[in-house]
Amino acid sequence: MSEERYLTFALCKGRLAKQTLSLFESIGIPCAEINDPDTRKLIFVNEELKLRFFLAKGPDVPTYVEYGAADIGVVGKDIIIEENRKIYEVLDLGLGKCRMCVCGPASAARLLNGQERIRVATKYPNIAKDYFYNQKNQTVEIIKLNGSIELAPIVGLSEVIVDIVETGSTLRENGLVVLEEVCPLSARVTVNPVSMRMENERITELLQKLSTCIGG
Ligand code: PRP
Repeated sequence: MSEERYLTFALCKGRLAKQTLSLFESIGIPCAEINDPDTRKLIFVNEELKLRFFLAKGPDVPTYVEYGAADIGVVGKDIIIEENRKIYEVLDLGLGKCRMCVCGPASAARLLNGQERIRVATKYPNIAKDYFYNQKNQTVEIIKLNGSIELAPIVGLSEVIVDIVETGSTLRENGLVVLEEVCPLSARVTVNPVSMRMENERITELLQKLSTCIGG
Protein backbone atom coordinates (compact mmCIF):
# COMPACT_ATOMS: atom_id res chain seq x y z
CA MET A 1 0.00 0.00 0.00
CA SER A 2 1.37 3.40 -0.95
CA GLU A 3 0.99 6.29 1.50
CA GLU A 4 1.91 8.64 -1.36
CA ARG A 5 -1.46 8.65 -3.04
CA TYR A 6 -4.02 11.25 -1.96
CA LEU A 7 -7.36 10.01 -0.70
CA THR A 8 -10.01 12.31 -2.15
CA PHE A 9 -13.28 13.16 -0.41
CA ALA A 10 -16.35 14.65 -2.08
CA LEU A 11 -18.64 16.47 0.32
CA CYS A 12 -22.09 17.98 -0.29
CA LYS A 13 -22.07 21.78 -0.25
CA GLY A 14 -23.96 23.27 2.67
CA ARG A 15 -24.86 22.29 6.20
CA LEU A 16 -23.94 18.63 5.80
CA ALA A 17 -20.37 19.54 4.73
CA LYS A 18 -19.90 21.64 7.88
CA GLN A 19 -21.15 18.84 10.13
CA THR A 20 -19.01 16.27 8.29
CA LEU A 21 -15.89 18.43 8.58
CA SER A 22 -16.33 18.89 12.32
CA LEU A 23 -16.73 15.12 12.63
CA PHE A 24 -13.47 14.67 10.65
CA GLU A 25 -11.84 17.22 12.91
CA SER A 26 -12.78 15.24 16.00
CA ILE A 27 -11.02 12.14 14.61
CA GLY A 28 -7.84 14.13 13.93
CA ILE A 29 -8.46 15.20 10.34
CA PRO A 30 -8.57 18.99 10.35
CA CYS A 31 -9.31 20.99 7.21
CA ALA A 32 -9.79 24.54 8.46
CA GLU A 33 -9.21 26.13 5.05
CA ILE A 34 -12.42 24.72 3.55
CA ASN A 35 -14.49 26.62 6.14
CA ASP A 36 -13.18 30.00 4.99
CA PRO A 37 -16.34 31.75 3.67
CA ASP A 38 -14.30 34.08 1.40
CA THR A 39 -12.39 31.46 -0.51
CA ARG A 40 -13.24 30.60 -4.12
CA LYS A 41 -10.98 27.57 -4.07
CA LEU A 42 -12.66 24.33 -5.03
CA ILE A 43 -10.23 21.83 -3.60
CA PHE A 44 -8.47 21.66 -0.23
CA VAL A 45 -5.45 19.59 0.65
CA ASN A 46 -4.18 18.20 3.91
CA GLU A 47 -0.56 17.56 2.87
CA GLU A 48 0.43 15.85 6.08
CA LEU A 49 -2.28 13.18 5.95
CA LYS A 50 -2.32 13.05 2.12
CA LEU A 51 -6.01 13.90 1.94
CA ARG A 52 -7.94 16.12 -0.47
CA PHE A 53 -11.44 17.50 -0.02
CA PHE A 54 -13.84 19.15 -2.43
CA LEU A 55 -17.38 20.42 -2.22
CA ALA A 56 -19.93 19.47 -4.87
CA LYS A 57 -23.67 19.73 -5.43
CA GLY A 58 -25.34 16.85 -3.60
CA PRO A 59 -26.52 14.85 -6.65
CA ASP A 60 -23.01 15.10 -8.17
CA VAL A 61 -21.29 13.46 -5.19
CA PRO A 62 -22.23 9.85 -6.13
CA THR A 63 -21.11 10.60 -9.72
CA TYR A 64 -17.61 11.65 -8.57
CA VAL A 65 -17.42 8.53 -6.40
CA GLU A 66 -18.62 6.12 -9.11
CA TYR A 67 -16.00 7.39 -11.57
CA GLY A 68 -13.26 7.33 -8.92
CA ALA A 69 -12.65 11.10 -9.10
CA ALA A 70 -13.38 10.92 -5.38
CA ASP A 71 -12.51 7.82 -3.34
CA ILE A 72 -15.04 8.67 -0.66
CA GLY A 73 -18.26 10.68 -0.74
CA VAL A 74 -20.45 11.86 2.10
CA VAL A 75 -24.01 12.33 0.93
CA GLY A 76 -27.65 11.95 1.99
CA LYS A 77 -29.41 8.60 1.59
CA ASP A 78 -32.08 10.41 -0.49
CA ILE A 79 -29.47 11.25 -3.13
CA ILE A 80 -27.90 7.77 -2.98
CA ILE A 81 -31.27 6.15 -3.74
CA GLU A 82 -32.25 8.71 -6.37
CA GLU A 83 -28.93 8.61 -8.27
CA ASN A 84 -28.51 4.81 -8.06
CA ARG A 85 -24.76 4.84 -8.84
CA LYS A 86 -22.34 1.91 -8.60
CA ILE A 87 -20.85 2.85 -5.24
CA TYR A 88 -20.56 1.17 -1.84
CA GLU A 89 -22.56 2.64 1.03
CA VAL A 90 -20.45 1.79 4.05
CA LEU A 91 -21.44 3.88 7.07
CA ASP A 92 -24.46 5.73 8.42
CA LEU A 93 -23.12 8.91 10.04
CA GLY A 94 -26.48 9.62 11.69
CA LEU A 95 -26.21 13.28 10.62
CA GLY A 96 -29.02 15.17 8.91
CA LYS A 97 -31.69 12.73 10.04
CA CYS A 98 -35.02 13.26 8.29
CA ARG A 99 -37.72 11.34 6.39
CA MET A 100 -38.85 11.02 2.78
CA CYS A 101 -42.62 11.39 2.85
CA VAL A 102 -45.72 11.72 0.73
CA CYS A 103 -47.28 15.01 1.82
CA GLY A 104 -50.26 17.13 0.86
CA PRO A 105 -53.41 18.64 2.27
CA ALA A 106 -55.09 16.27 4.75
CA SER A 107 -57.96 15.92 2.25
CA ALA A 108 -55.59 14.20 -0.22
CA ALA A 109 -55.29 11.11 2.02
CA ARG A 110 -58.23 9.49 0.21
CA LEU A 111 -56.34 9.75 -3.10
CA LEU A 112 -53.61 7.35 -1.92
CA ASN A 113 -55.81 4.26 -2.12
CA GLY A 114 -54.03 2.77 -5.13
CA GLN A 115 -56.77 3.62 -7.66
CA GLU A 116 -56.51 7.36 -8.34
CA ARG A 117 -54.28 8.58 -11.16
CA ILE A 118 -53.01 11.60 -9.25
CA ARG A 119 -50.13 14.00 -9.94
CA VAL A 120 -47.09 13.80 -7.67
CA ALA A 121 -44.58 16.67 -7.65
CA THR A 122 -41.05 15.94 -6.44
CA LYS A 123 -37.33 16.61 -6.68
CA TYR A 124 -36.90 12.82 -6.46
CA PRO A 125 -38.70 11.24 -9.47
CA ASN A 126 -36.99 7.83 -9.11
CA ILE A 127 -37.88 7.52 -5.42
CA ALA A 128 -41.45 8.67 -6.10
CA LYS A 129 -41.83 6.28 -9.05
CA ASP A 130 -40.51 3.31 -7.09
CA TYR A 131 -42.77 4.09 -4.13
CA PHE A 132 -45.99 4.55 -6.09
CA TYR A 133 -45.44 1.97 -8.85
CA ASN A 134 -43.60 -0.82 -7.03
CA GLN A 135 -44.63 -0.49 -3.41
CA LYS A 136 -48.16 0.89 -3.64
CA ASN A 137 -49.09 -0.39 -7.10
CA GLN A 138 -50.62 2.97 -7.90
CA THR A 139 -50.20 4.50 -11.36
CA VAL A 140 -49.48 8.22 -10.98
CA GLU A 141 -48.06 11.08 -13.01
CA ILE A 142 -44.70 12.22 -11.64
CA ILE A 143 -43.79 15.89 -12.11
CA LYS A 144 -40.13 16.80 -11.55
CA LEU A 145 -39.44 20.08 -9.72
CA ASN A 146 -36.18 21.56 -8.45
CA GLY A 147 -37.16 23.11 -5.12
CA SER A 148 -39.93 24.67 -2.99
CA ILE A 149 -41.88 21.49 -3.66
CA GLU A 150 -44.54 22.42 -1.07
CA LEU A 151 -45.85 25.02 -3.53
CA ALA A 152 -47.13 22.37 -5.94
CA PRO A 153 -50.30 21.22 -4.09
CA ILE A 154 -51.01 24.78 -2.92
CA VAL A 155 -51.15 26.24 -6.43
CA GLY A 156 -52.78 23.16 -7.98
CA LEU A 157 -49.84 21.67 -9.87
CA SER A 158 -50.23 18.33 -8.10
CA GLU A 159 -52.40 16.60 -5.54
CA VAL A 160 -49.46 15.46 -3.38
CA ILE A 161 -45.66 15.75 -3.17
CA VAL A 162 -42.84 13.36 -2.31
CA ASP A 163 -40.30 15.36 -0.31
CA ILE A 164 -37.98 15.51 2.66
CA VAL A 165 -39.50 16.33 6.05
CA GLU A 166 -37.11 17.30 8.81
CA THR A 167 -38.77 19.46 11.48
CA GLY A 168 -42.13 19.56 9.68
CA SER A 169 -42.30 23.35 9.91
CA THR A 170 -42.39 23.96 6.13
CA LEU A 171 -45.44 21.68 5.93
CA ARG A 172 -47.15 23.27 8.95
CA GLU A 173 -46.61 26.80 7.71
CA ASN A 174 -48.19 25.88 4.40
CA GLY A 175 -51.17 23.91 5.67
CA LEU A 176 -49.85 20.51 4.55
CA VAL A 177 -49.37 17.24 6.44
CA VAL A 178 -47.41 14.00 6.15
CA LEU A 179 -49.72 11.45 4.53
CA GLU A 180 -47.33 8.47 4.26
CA GLU A 181 -43.68 7.81 5.10
CA VAL A 182 -41.50 6.46 2.28
CA CYS A 183 -38.23 5.90 4.19
CA PRO A 184 -35.95 7.33 6.89
CA LEU A 185 -32.90 9.31 5.72
CA SER A 186 -29.47 10.38 7.02
CA ALA A 187 -25.97 11.10 5.73
CA ARG A 188 -23.93 8.10 4.58
CA VAL A 189 -20.30 7.50 3.73
CA THR A 190 -19.92 6.02 0.25
CA VAL A 191 -16.79 4.52 -1.32
CA ASN A 192 -15.63 3.83 -4.87
CA PRO A 193 -15.41 0.01 -5.25
CA VAL A 194 -11.88 0.09 -6.73
CA SER A 195 -10.64 2.47 -4.01
CA MET A 196 -12.10 0.12 -1.42
CA ARG A 197 -9.81 -2.66 -2.76
CA MET A 198 -6.71 -0.57 -3.48
CA GLU A 199 -6.76 1.60 -0.35
CA ASN A 200 -8.50 -0.86 1.94
CA GLU A 201 -6.24 -0.35 4.95
CA ARG A 202 -6.50 3.46 5.02
CA ILE A 203 -10.23 3.50 4.29
CA THR A 204 -11.03 0.81 6.85
CA GLU A 205 -9.03 2.66 9.52
CA LEU A 206 -10.86 5.88 8.73
CA LEU A 207 -14.26 4.18 8.84
CA GLN A 208 -13.42 2.57 12.18
CA LYS A 209 -12.44 5.93 13.67
CA LEU A 210 -15.62 7.57 12.33
CA SER A 211 -17.74 4.73 13.56
CA THR A 212 -16.19 4.85 17.07
CA CYS A 213 -16.60 8.63 17.15
CA ILE A 214 -20.32 8.60 16.28
CA GLY A 215 -20.99 5.53 18.43
CA GLY A 216 -19.53 7.10 21.56
C1 PRP B 1 -36.11 20.85 2.28
C2 PRP B 1 -37.32 20.03 1.88
C3 PRP B 1 -38.45 20.75 2.58
C4 PRP B 1 -37.79 21.26 3.84
C5 PRP B 1 -38.13 20.37 5.00
O1 PRP B 1 -36.02 21.92 1.41
O2 PRP B 1 -37.48 19.99 0.48
O3 PRP B 1 -38.92 21.81 1.80
O4 PRP B 1 -36.37 21.25 3.62
O5 PRP B 1 -37.60 20.82 6.21
P1 PRP B 1 -38.53 21.05 7.49
O6 PRP B 1 -39.39 19.82 7.69
O7 PRP B 1 -37.54 21.21 8.62
O8 PRP B 1 -39.35 22.28 7.26
P2 PRP B 1 -34.72 22.82 1.28
O9 PRP B 1 -34.67 23.79 2.40
O10 PRP B 1 -33.54 21.92 1.15
O11 PRP B 1 -34.93 23.64 -0.05
P3 PRP B 1 -35.69 23.31 -1.42
O12 PRP B 1 -37.12 23.67 -1.19
O13 PRP B 1 -35.04 24.20 -2.40
O14 PRP B 1 -35.51 21.85 -1.73
